[in-house]
This record gives sequence, C-alpha cells and structure tokens, in this order.
Amino acid sequence: MLRFLISDKKEFFRMLLVRLVTQTMYVCWAFVFQLIINVAQGKQHFDLFLLGSGILVFMIIMDNIGGLDNYFGLMLKLHTAQRLRAALMEQAYHLTSKSYSLSVGELVAKVTKQTDNVVENYYGQLLLLVSYSFQISLAMIATISLNPVITLVIVLLSLPALVFPFLLKKKLTTSSSAVVKQIDRYTSRVTDLLSGLPILKFALAGRAAIKQHQLSNQKLLAKQQVNARWSSFSLGVSMLLSDLTYISTWILGAIMVQQGRMNLGQMVVFSTLSGYLSYPLLEITRIIPLIISGHQAAVKLVEFLQADASIGTVPLLLTDQFLPNKVFKLQSASYEVKQQSILKKINLELKLNKKYLLVGASGSGKTTLTKLLLGEIAPCSGSVDLNRQPVNKLARKDIYQQIGLLLQRGHVFSGTVRENLNLFEDRFSNSELEQAMGHAGLAEWLQQHSLETMVSDQSSLLSGGERQRLALARLFLRNYQFYIFDELTTGLDPRIAASLLHDLFSMKMGFLLITHSFNLEAFQKADQIIVLQHGRISAQGNYQDEKIKLELAKLNF
Ligand SMILES: Nc1ncnc2c1ncn2[C@@H]1O[C@H](COP(=O)(O)OP(=O)(O)OP(=O)(O)O)[C@@H](O)[C@H]1O
Ligand SMILES: [Mg+2]
Repeated sequence: MLRFLISDKKEFFRMLLVRLVTQTMYVCWAFVFQLIINVAQGKQHFDLFLLGSGILVFMIIMDNIGGLDNYFGLMLKLHTAQRLRAALMEQAYHLTSKSYSLSVGELVAKVTKQTDNVVENYYGQLLLLVSYSFQISLAMIATISLNPVITLVIVLLSLPALVFPFLLKKKLTTSSSAVVKQIDRYTSRVTDLLSGLPILKFALAGRAAIKQHQLSNQKLLAKQQVNARWSSFSLGVSMLLSDLTYISTWILGAIMVQQGRMNLGQMVVFSTLSGYLSYPLLEITRIIPLIISGHQAAVKLVEFLQADASIGTVPLLLTDQFLPNKVFKLQSASYEVKQQSILKKINLELKLNKKYLLVGASGSGKTTLTKLLLGEIAPCSGSVDLNRQPVNKLARKDIYQQIGLLLQRGHVFSGTVRENLNLFEDRFSNSELEQAMGHAGLAEWLQQHSLETMVSDQSSLLSGGERQRLALARLFLRNYQFYIFDELTTGLDPRIAASLLHDLFSMKMGFLLITHSFNLEAFQKADQIIVLQHGRISAQGNYQDEKIKLELAKLNF
C-alpha cells in the first residue's frame, strides 16, 4: 500500500524537503531564546531594534514555510485519496460476480470511509511521523553540539515514553481492526436498509428497520469505545512519561547552571530542544494507534485491489466464419456449486439471426445458463465456446461488444434520458438516439418528454414497461450481434409485454429470451424453444414439435 501511496514521487519528495526545512527552522528558533537571554545578560552585544527586526523576519519566513508545509501535506493526502478511490472503482469494475461476493454497501465503505481512514490515519500520520523524526534528529544534533552528556541523559529518560506504546501494540491492533470491520458491516447495513426503505415503509416495518440500524450503530459505537479506551489509556501514560522527561531536563539544566557548567541561555535552549524531543515522543503515542487502525484498513484495501479479477485476456477472433453458424456452442457443459448440480451436460448451439426462447420452472437453471454463455462462470466440465473459443477465457470487452444483455430490471441512472442512452459518453447523435428510442417503442413517450428529461431509478416518469424499453433502446444503439434477455417481460402488463415481444420478434437480430409467461406469437415465431428442467434440457425444437408441446404443457404454458 505504501508504494501505492507514494506513487507520485515528485510531490512526495517536494513535501519531504519543505518538511525538513521547516523542522530545521524550528530548531534554529530555540537558539533565538539563547540569543535574547545572552543579550539581556550583556554576554552578547546587539542593537535591540536590529535584533527584534531580525527575529521578526525569521519568524515570518519560518511560519510561512510552516504554512506551506501544511499545504503540501494536505495536497498530498487529497491527491492520494483521489487516486485510491479511482483504483478501487477500477477494480470494482473489473471484478466479475464470480470473483467477489461483496455487497454494494461494502464497496461504498471501501471507496468512502476506508479510503479516508487509510489516507488520514495511515498515510497522514506516517507523514507526521516523518516530520517528527526530522524534528527529533535535528534537535538531537543540536543538543549533542551543546552537551553530549545531557543529551544522553534525555534520551535515556525518553526511552520509557517511546517503548510504552509498543507494549500495547497488540491490544491496539485488535481493537482498531474490530472498528475497521464494523465500519464495513455498518455501511453495508445502512446501504441495504436505505435501498429497501420504500418496501419497509409500505410494510409498516420502518420502525423495525430503524431498530436494526440502531443495533448496527450501537455495535459500531461499542467497538469504537473499546478502541478509544485503549488509545486514551496509552496516551495518558505517555503524557506522564513525557512530562517527566521534560521537567527532568529543566532540573538537570538548573543543576548544571548551579555548578557553573552551563549558562542560563544554554539552559533555555536545552529545555526548548528537549521539548522538541519529548513532544514528538508524546505524539508518537497518539499516532501509533491511528497508524495501526489505518494500516488494518490499508491491508483490506490491498486485498481487494489485488483480488484476482479473473479477466479473460484472449481476444475474440472475428473471422469470416464469425457467428453466422454458431454464436455459442455448449458441449456437455455442467455446472455445480458445493457439489450441488445446477446444470447437467448441456449440449446446445445458438446461431446468429435465430430467435430462441428458453423456458423452465423457477430454479431450473436458466439464469445460470446465461452466466455460462457470457463467461461469468466457467463450466465445471464440458465446454462453452463463443465463436469456437472458450468463452470464459475471452477478454470481457470483446464479449460485451458482441453480446447485448438485458436483465429483468434495466437500471435507470440518475441523469437525463440522453445520458441514460449514451451511458455518460457522447457517442450517439440526436437522430441515432431518437431512432433507437423509436425502435424500442418509445417514440410516443419522447413526444411528450425530451432527451433532456431527468429520470432516475425511482422516477415515476417511466413505467415498468417504459424503463424496459429505455434499456432496450440502450442496447439497440450499440448494434450487438446477438442478444440475451433474461425475463425481459416479467412483471409487465400482458398487453405491454405482448407488444414488446412483437417488436423483438420483428427485428433482424437473433436472441435468446428467457420467459415465464406464454405468448402465442412469440412461441410461434421462435426458431427454437429450449425447455430446461432441473438443470437438463428436456426438449428442444419449434412450437409445432409434439415433444415441445408436451413439455410446455407440463409448465402450464
Ligand atoms: N452461486 C450459487 N450458489 C448456490 N446456488 C446457486 C448458485 N447459482 C445458482 N444456484 C442455484 O441454482 C439453481 C438455478 O438457479 P437459476 O438462477 O439459474 O434459476 P432460474 O431458472 O433462472 O430461476 P428463475 O426462473 O426463478 O429466475 C437455483 O436453485 C439456485 O439457488
Ligand atoms: Mg433467473
């Protein structure tokens, strides 16, 4: 993760340089006090006005560089967070449903809370640690130059404060990793409950859901409390140890002054410098729990970023023989999960420009079959080929370019109709968009609205049938070779479903359509009807075939 965080080396080293300059100036600042005391005691002779002006200029430069240091630090963190979010989104895009089983909420937690946690606590505090190590090293060099013996004593006195947090490291790690996990669970729960809020409200189950949220909220608080307790205890003890170190330097200095081995000015520098040593040590105690918690989150993000995206890389070869004969060919393809057989020895050929209906009882394996066709899952035995190539080895983009997919509920993004069709690109002209909408049966709708009409997933401007048509228009724009429609008409008014099917069966392109409802026109026009029963093809043929009629009758069609 660190390598990722400092991937912009130029920005990182610029910040380090400014940080080094700032800390050097702070150490020099300690000597200003020595100068003032020496002048006051008459040991050094300076015009007070000149001295005052000089100090003022030094102060202005020092504080401005301090400001710049802070600004560069903030910028570095902001840029890093932005890069990290981008990488997480990129990975979420590449992972297929097979390679991760995260809920949307968990992904949201990663891109928001956990990214902040990593950047603020892990990276931000590590950067602070760098500052403090500069400060400690420079203060040490300065104190050694003044008096090596006292420096050694100060270092020895500081040791307990430095060692203490490490003694608690295990406790701190456990408690902060519990917080990280709980944040994921909490965000997941909230996303889930908020997405289902209308359902909960109408079922008058809103109160129960709020209670569910409260439970999750309470758990998060409990973990945070344990974490806060341990880090505060660690901080309290360190504060005491650090104060002991600081006051010891003053007492030691006073003894040295009494014995005439040091003057007053030197004692002040000394004590100030020892503050530069003890303050960072105290800060380190505060920082370490944060770094641990941030590190826990970083480990989780790295795991996610490095998860096998299982992307096929083989390009799809588009030869002359592409598709006309066999778009898909399944040979004895079987699929099982946890030794439960879901698809059994499927032999199937799907041809371009042909229209297929896939029917079968609920749970017979229809959706699983489409996942096999798209290479989302690989067969446990047998083969699934697209254009004679194993589909699950093919580059995703090549498959998605050729095969259009529409599921039961086409998603509507918050944005204009144009954006929903273009999918946030600027690919298609007005006339192309209008034509596709007309083709998908939305010409009338478009007359009453426009391409700039704002819609969303909750929008009432689109009925169930219209949102399916919008999703269809989105597909038509992209000129696929073959389509897969999974329960396209489920839940639609039979008349709307019939007109949608009529339009589909009038188009030139071939498709595989999964349906639960009977529509005479569709069944008559289908080139082939495939009946799936308990993961096996029980019949295959056109509507005239006796076997098909028999199987359909079993399904009450
Ligand atoms: N990853 C999986 N883990 C466990 N079981 C699975 C998995 N994928 C599919 N199944 C099971 O396989 C069976 C077939 O599921 P599938 O979704 O393909 O059915 P379907 O024919 O599309 O049903 P429906 O008509 O209800 O959509 C179901 O019993 C389902 O629970
Ligand atoms: Mg299904």
